[in-house]
Amino acid sequence: MPRLDVDGLDVVHLQCHLGTDTLSLARLGARVTGLDLSGDAIAAAQDLAARAGTDVEYVVSDVYSSVDVLGPARFDLVYTGIGALCWLPSIDRWAQTVAGLLRPGGRLFVRDAHPVLLASLGMVVGEEHPDRSQQSWITAPGRATPALELPYFEQPEPLHWNDTSTYTGGDEAVAAPLSVEWNHGLGEIVTAVLDAGLEVTGLHEHDSVPWDALPGLMTYDPATGECRLTDRPERLPASFTLTARLTPRA
Ligand SMILES: C[S@@+](CC[C@H](N)C(=O)[O-])C[C@H]1O[C@@H](n2cnc3c(N)ncnc32)[C@H](O)[C@@H]1O
Repeated sequence: MPRLDVDGLDVVHLQCHLGTDTLSLARLGARVTGLDLSGDAIAAAQDLAARAGTDVEYVVSDVYSSVDVLGPARFDLVYTGIGALCWLPSIDRWAQTVAGLLRPGGRLFVRDAHPVLLASLGMVVGEEHPDRSQQSWITAPGRATPALELPYFEQPEPLHWNDTSTYTGGDEAVAAPLSVEWNHGLGEIVTAVLDAGLEVTGLHEHDSVPWDALPGLMTYDPATGECRLTDRPERLPASFTLTARLTPRA
């Protein structure tokens, strides 16, 4: 995993939600702006930062309006991820926004769910696969496995979900259970970043993700705070880290 020294940098954390990573970036010495669409999330993030005695600027805004709201070419680093890109309809527009926020030479750091994970659902295998006698990898009938059931590539129409449970793990039913999501293929993400004028400096795929993304199929590792497939985790890219740098104009 790439390491970043953020001391003294102007950093914007896009889709910061409750601002826990925003706070960590500030504690590492960055001047940080946290941005999120949700006024409630920003209010909670402001409260957390005040109680921690940490100086963070918070802004309520759509990612796509952030260059207008924050100003162009203002940041040394755009940091985002951990459940961020799937809420945005256009990865091209997102990458253009990132480029607009960065100073020449400024960097992007994303760690987010892998699009293969986001295209997968846990399913129970119904029939014996004819190749299982040759390949012990193939899941036996009656056992659950991740299956590619949802779009991998970006689609114009979102997936609609109606789910009252909250990913924070709390018991309360959420007041607005309808949500929409878009997946973006890894090639689409990299190409969008390149087309926006950034140079890709790193791309790492990981077999783990910091939440239980496939309930019943993943095991939590308290040492890392990450979940990975319990059975044959080498089958699934669960998250990725992408780093890039805005090419200074000649
Ligand atoms: C899963 S949370 C991100 C969590 C965050 N990365 C963290 O580690 O705490 C997704 C966040 O994206 C925000 N969001 C969704 N669509 C957005 C948009 N178009 N512009 C800005 N924020 C958005 C939501 O309000 C939510 O706070």
